[in-house]
Amino acid sequence: MKEIINSLPDQILRALNSVPAVQRPTRRPGMVIGCGMGGSGISTEILAVLYPAIPIVANKDYRVPVYADRRTLALFVSYSGNTEETLNNYRLLAPKVGVRVIITSGGALSAKTAELKVKIPAGLPPRGALGYLYTPLPIVLHRYGLIRKDPKPGLTNLAKFLMKSRNAISRKASALAGRFVGKLPVIYSDSALYSVVANRWRCQLNENAKTICHTNVIPEMNHNEIVGLGRPKKFNRDTLLVFLHDPETSPRNLRREKIMKEIIRDDLKNIIDIDPAGRNCTERMFWTIMLGDFISFYLAKKTGVDPLPVKRIEYLKKRLAQ
Ligand code: F6R
Repeated sequence: MKEIINSLPDQILRALNSVPAVQRPTRRPGMVIGCGMGGSGISTEILAVLYPAIPIVANKDYRVPVYADRRTLALFVSYSGNTEETLNNYRLLAPKVGVRVIITSGGALSAKTAELKVKIPAGLPPRGALGYLYTPLPIVLHRYGLIRKDPKPGLTNLAKFLMKSRNAISRKASALAGRFVGKLPVIYSDSALYSVVANRWRCQLNENAKTICHTNVIPEMNHNEIVGLGRPKKFNRDTLLVFLHDPETSPRNLRREKIMKEIIRDDLKNIIDIDPAGRNCTERMFWTIMLGDFISFYLAKKTGVDPLPVKRIEYLKKRLAQ
């Protein structure tokens, strides 16, 4: 798993040329619906927050938005190609949308008809293939005229930045992981961008370290969760608060966080603040993702858990297929 996490920038570089040429439709798509679950679906969540000028919906249900039409570009992202929610999304959306894009390593999805298919290498756990799954997405947006600027130079810089940073990120994660042992991690982000990063942390802590984890976002949690925070008191010693900071967040959110920390000071004392490195929001986002990935790995190691198998997910999928 450590090697897999390390390979994120290598995956980005390898995936740069994975998108075949396309025939552009006469009308540019007006909206994107990204379908995918778990380790695959997070790639469309990342896309949605990094390209806020385009209406992009990350769909994570059997059903699909009813407003999908000929001007919709639908992304079907499933590493295995056999995820039933995504296959059902394809069945519902394929006859309605103007452009169908499939991103998969194989399975039933790879046999479906689409305007564009991106084949990615098999043999990884889906959550360990983020570079292969995410990189094609901005390139697809560019191919279909939804973004003007070619994303490849930025993605190349991102990969180089992560390559340079990965050892330092890994060391930082190793140093932090001990604080997660035996704790319930509660991860608060302070922007929509970092809310997706917090989701990734939660999923990686769940699947690699096999632990429960809770996430929420400021300011929304200031309107509800803040009241319950620290109750029941018996959990406080075993709760670890992690604040993921977006350097571009509103200064009002910083003020909110400061006041919040004063309010909970006597009840919750285990707090970690994460301030990302990177020259732009994409680099900072992926830096923080890699940090969470490594923490989940080191936490698994410290608690004697094998980070690779996700037996419950596999068992559930098998039972559903019966
Ligand atoms: C397993 C993992 C899961 C899967 C999810 C969907 O490593 O991360 O969250 O990603 O069960 O399966 P795929 O990605 O094959 O569509």
